[in-house]
Amino acid sequence: MASVTLKKVSKRFGNVTAVENVSLEIPDRQFIVLVGPSGCGKTTTLRMVAGLEEITEGEIYIGDRLVNDVPPKDRDIAMVFQNYALYPHMNVYENMAFALKLRKFPKAEIDRRVREAARLLGIEDLLQRKPKALSGGQRQRVAVGRAIVREPKVFLMDEPLSNLDAKLRVQMRAELSKLHNRLQTTVIYVTHDQTEAMTMGDRIVVMKDGKVQQEGAPLEVYERPANMFVAGFIGSPAMNFFRAHLDRAAGELYVDFGSFRLPLPKEMPAWERCREYVGREVVLGLRPEDIDDAELHPEYPADFCVQATVDVVEMMGSEAYLNASLGSFTLVARVEAVTTARDGAPHRLAFNMKKGHLFDPTTTMVIR
Ligand SMILES: Nc1ncnc2c1ncn2[C@@H]1O[C@H](COP(=O)(O)OP(=O)(O)O)[C@@H](O)[C@H]1O
Ligand SMILES: [Mg+2]
Repeated sequence: MASVTLKKVSKRFGNVTAVENVSLEIPDRQFIVLVGPSGCGKTTTLRMVAGLEEITEGEIYIGDRLVNDVPPKDRDIAMVFQNYALYPHMNVYENMAFALKLRKFPKAEIDRRVREAARLLGIEDLLQRKPKALSGGQRQRVAVGRAIVREPKVFLMDEPLSNLDAKLRVQMRAELSKLHNRLQTTVIYVTHDQTEAMTMGDRIVVMKDGKVQQEGAPLEVYERPANMFVAGFIGSPAMNFFRAHLDRAAGELYVDFGSFRLPLPKEMPAWERCREYVGREVVLGLRPEDIDDAELHPEYPADFCVQATVDVVEMMGSEAYLNASLGSFTLVARVEAVTTARDGAPHRLAFNMKKGHLFDPTTTMVIR
């Protein structure tokens, strides 16, 4: 068993609370991603699991074993750091073998493990090279290889791809996912990049200010964000937020923006509860893909369409992002590339209100 469990774990550095009351249950063999902006406590959480940082409060278990006082080398984990310095004077083989040599593994066993890891990572031809003769991606593979040869129960990875260029990062993302499928070990992966989290995680844990904001399957978090922070952090381009007044007229609910209003259809998850907000301010959240080009979508009833001013069209080839203004609001709509929208011109946009999220502006929590 290589599950990892955190029970009400906190870490304070003097009067800075880096991690606050974090509880997580990571089942055996799951690939879990801790994601959040810089400084939210991801690295500190990982270092406590690794045993590199003392725990101020709470308990950490690996399998059934309480490890609070177990030294790092006895925790059966391996960590891949962001700055994975390889030993420059050793070749790839020696870099990968080093930790096993220190632990006095027999030569034949070391050789078996290094060659097996090299095969998995596709670096068998590089074993005799020195790090300076490797590309960034190859070095990254060697760093992962050093962790694999230890055959740990749990892998900890702290932003392992952040030093790679964008194209390589996308490639390594897929490789690490494939590797996890083959190795069948538990992985705790830390990143500030929501795309990495969405694409790699079986489950993601969104953190902010040392606290867990939400955890769940990537799509679940994307479709049902718990608060405005998660809603704005997960997804790219980011969710649009509009502050508006919730009104009732003739039995129907509307969000009123002053110069225009949009109906709240009963299919909206928030509909029942948001009746409590009639006469109050709310925040409407709509993802860019839920604002359509009305010209291309005649199926929308007229009261879901509003004329906006398109400031800039970003043509992506496969689609276009319309950066538009609507009175005092700005928004991004993600529409088909065949759009006739042009910079500076008015254009009708259609709001897919069934997909709308409503938030309480005071608590920032979702209304559902
Ligand atoms: N050794 C330390 N001493 C004091 N403060 C620290 C130390 N390590 C981290 N912190 C603080 O704890 C918070 C969380 O840091 P960190 O875990 O590195 O965040 P992340 O990895 O999400 O960027 C930050 O405010 C950081 O400044
Ligand atoms: Mg960090």
